[in-house]
Amino acid sequence: MEDYWSEYWSQGYITSFGQDIKANYSGKLKESWNKFSSLLDENASILDVGTGNGALIDLINTSRRHNFKFFAVDQANLKKEIIKNLPGTFLSNVNAEKLPFNDENFNAVISQFAIEYSDLKSSITECFRVLKKGGRYQFICHEENSDIVQPNMDILASAQRVKSDFITELKQLIINIKEGDEKINNQKAIIYKLITKENSINPHAFNATLFISFYNFVLKNRNIDLDTAFSLFNKELEGLIFRLSDLEKAANNSNELPSCLEKHNVSVKIEKLIDKDNQYIGTLYEGIKI
Ligand SMILES: C[S@@+](CC[C@H](N)C(=O)[O-])C[C@H]1O[C@@H](n2cnc3c(N)ncnc32)[C@H](O)[C@@H]1O
Repeated sequence: MEDYWSEYWSQGYITSFGQDIKANYSGKLKESWNKFSSLLDENASILDVGTGNGALIDLINTSRRHNFKFFAVDQANLKKEIIKNLPGTFLSNVNAEKLPFNDENFNAVISQFAIEYSDLKSSITECFRVLKKGGRYQFICHEENSDIVQPNMDILASAQRVKSDFITELKQLIINIKEGDEKINNQKAIIYKLITKENSINPHAFNATLFISFYNFVLKNRNIDLDTAFSLFNKELEGLIFRLSDLEKAANNSNELPSCLEKHNVSVKIEKLIDKDNQYIGTLYEGIKI
């Protein structure tokens, strides 16, 4: 689980939103990065911290005519087949808390939905160490009450209830099925009660845990290797809980960002990013090193 992001990027995703945003970011996010790149000198060197498979580099690269020099780091292993098609130098397994660059090296340091996953005290100090005087920074971060984070917290709560209340009952159902036990119907009734209760809390969040799909799958495929299927489902559920707990921590961590920025000799402008559907997608922090 430790290497969740390496595993994620190895699947070839471009953005951190999996199947939900398959091509690169658009709308307000794209607009914000286009605006940022329009302020840079055409020969600027740019460092992207927590780059993933390089979505921001790709966005900025296509934003205008330029001669930018791109550098990008991430603590995870990045997918070679994807980053080899992007301009610049990509470094996997590099932590934001210890950047392998000289002082005052870059004209711009950027990050999107990434810096808040790090230890901000160290990573922000590092970002401003490697940024030249007069250089620009822009960070877009998750926030606790954003329309991206909030629904995911409902899914996390539901997934945790599935783990604590449903899993043993499901395991018992599989035992009953394998043994051809008459208690199957009793067990189905217990699970049905749990499902009804969970659906009354938040059906959308419950649906995202994939419990119902897996439960129906078990009932329809009684003759397959249900133990293996069960352990795959369990692994997926643990992965979901890990990923969303990490998101929760990152979003909480963003609260510390304004005070971290204030400790440095930089200007700070903070903007809530609201898209055209009135969705609060995160907060943008930008400024110049003085
Ligand atoms: C939500 S993804 C964002 C990726 C990309 N910036 C984007 O907008 O698509 C968060 C990324 O931050 C990276 N990350 C988390 N903690 C980090 C740290 N301490 N140092 C460097 N990268 C980190 C993860 O490996 C992951 O690739």
